[in-house]
Amino acid sequence: MTEVFRRTHMCGQLALSDAGKKVVLNGWVQKSRRLGGLIFTDLRDKTGMVQIVFDESIPEDVFALAESLRSEYVVGVKGLVREREAKNAELATGEIEVLADSLVLYSVAETPPIYVKDDDNVSEDLRLKYRYIDLRKNRMQRNLTFRHQICKVTRDYFSETGFTEIETPVLVKPTPEGARDYLVPSRVHPGDFYALPQSPQLYKQLLMAGGSDRYFQIAKCFRDEDLRADRQPEFTQIDLEMSFITPDEVLEIQEGFLKRLMKEVMQLDIETPFPRMCYKEAMGRFGSDKPDTRFGYELVDISALAKDSGFSVFANAIAQGGSVRGICIEGGAERFSRKEVDKLVDFVKIYGAKGLAWLKVSAEGLQSSFSKFLSEKEQRDLLQAFSAKVGDLLLIVADKDKIVFDALGALRIHIADRFALRHPKKYNFLWVVDFPLLEKEEETGRYKAMHHPFTSPHPNDLDKLETAPGDVRALAYDIVLNGTELGGGSIRIHDRDLQNRMFTILGLSAEEIENKFGFLLEAFRYGVPPHGGLAYGLDRLVMLLLGEDSIRETMAFPKNQAAEDPVSAAPGAVDEEQMFELGIQLLDF
Ligand code: AMO
Ligand code: AMP
Repeated sequence: MTEVFRRTHMCGQLALSDAGKKVVLNGWVQKSRRLGGLIFTDLRDKTGMVQIVFDESIPEDVFALAESLRSEYVVGVKGLVREREAKNAELATGEIEVLADSLVLYSVAETPPIYVKDDDNVSEDLRLKYRYIDLRKNRMQRNLTFRHQICKVTRDYFSETGFTEIETPVLVKPTPEGARDYLVPSRVHPGDFYALPQSPQLYKQLLMAGGSDRYFQIAKCFRDEDLRADRQPEFTQIDLEMSFITPDEVLEIQEGFLKRLMKEVMQLDIETPFPRMCYKEAMGRFGSDKPDTRFGYELVDISALAKDSGFSVFANAIAQGGSVRGICIEGGAERFSRKEVDKLVDFVKIYGAKGLAWLKVSAEGLQSSFSKFLSEKEQRDLLQAFSAKVGDLLLIVADKDKIVFDALGALRIHIADRFALRHPKKYNFLWVVDFPLLEKEEETGRYKAMHHPFTSPHPNDLDKLETAPGDVRALAYDIVLNGTELGGGSIRIHDRDLQNRMFTILGLSAEEIENKFGFLLEAFRYGVPPHGGLAYGLDRLVMLLLGEDSIRETMAFPKNQAAEDPVSAAPGAVDEEQMFELGIQLLDF
């Protein structure tokens, strides 16, 4: 067994003030090269890097060992810190070096398949396959440490405000958050399945029934849904629930948390309370229920003007119950060539729009794909509606509301990105409130819960539940940061009859209600406090504050786009014997 050197310092923490000290370091060799009678080795641990020097004053065998060092060898070094002659301003420890007198080799390394270098432009697939090498990078260590700091502030803040951290089970009955479940077969009950929780929703409500008063958990959640940059099949929530609480109190407690978090991890003072915007306003002004308010390009509704216009595309959209809306890009007339405008047309098609009507205002007059269909007065009214000036570009979509909002909501962000208007150091927190309780599914015409079925309807809208379900507001709120939904929650239903009514509106039969949620309704029989809560997506929070563009950069071992763990190659086949025990037989696909 090699002796393990007892470390005195971390590599990245040595400074000029340490000059003259005898130190013991452990770490990985970043690179090593011989220059005449000297060997220079960059030694790295999670805190950073320091230069080690071996000269010929040390025993021959130590010098020979030093000469054999290659990238990613793992070693221990003893030596003396001294001021460097040629300082390296790019390295945090660049003012010093360590003159080594002993060296131990713990592990050799083959040539690594990826370099341990932040700006190594290697494919993400390869990075994820060799994640344990990728994680050695400075950037990844920074990200993991930052994530840890966020968890620590979370635990501190909520512990100090009366919350208890309580774990909830991972083998559960399906909880409907709207995604597909991951299922786990039961050996003891052949043919039966657990689900992995899409969130701890029902258990945290039961904890309120259980008298815990205020609960939090940094909880793993599992959802079998299509992956995106901000979605993973398993992700983490900061999950919270409170008894005897009003929506205002929920928001205040969360504002306190986010203020503290921004101060401690970002050293930033942010204004509270955050602006609150109702859902309808968010959709109308930004085409999104998670608006990025760092820039303008707000939507303008020109339906009234378009309704009787000579342009049939506009008039037809209105006649079919849709709307006509657009955005005005100040100074856009010159900045977008004809070809580039065509690209914008293609862009909105991704969102189902059939086209994009455009208009450039110049000193000579209008240049447009549709103005020839409008009368002079209609053209004037249009410009006035957008307060358009010479040099502006108008971009208009006519369609069903959903398509208009999706297309323009995405377009304003697309253009803001191009003009770098999404300032990375600006943090616009925003509450979106007054969500509709229900949304209608296009294909089936059935209503489904916009948040989840346990969300309380607005007390003033209760009489509309059966007669006009689409008009009922929910006591639900989302916290939005710079155009991303960070978290969401609601005041819950705690009345058995109302919960039953809600399930019925969602189309569940009495039998289904009993089978799926009987235990919750049963709990409501025995005294349950009014309660509410919310959950943040921890991965998204870390991503946004780090300025990363994927939550994969915030997780040690994320899944790839095909929902695989490239390190271990999960998911994989299992033994026939194991399958037999579970009573499972595979179909031939
Ligand atoms: P919701 O479904 O809105 O609410 O989830 C809360 C937050 O979790 C994050 N999130 C995700 N992050 C990464 N990958 C995913 N696949 C993913 N899905 C969701 C988002 C989201 O805002 N039980 C309720 C909360 C409540 O009512 O208290 C719930 O789960 O940031
Ligand atoms: P057309 O009459 O098809 O030549 O279309 C004239 C202009 O209207 C073109 O610029 C189209 O891109 C645009 N257009 C077509 N359909 C729509 C729509 N649903 N919304 C907005 N503009 C559209």
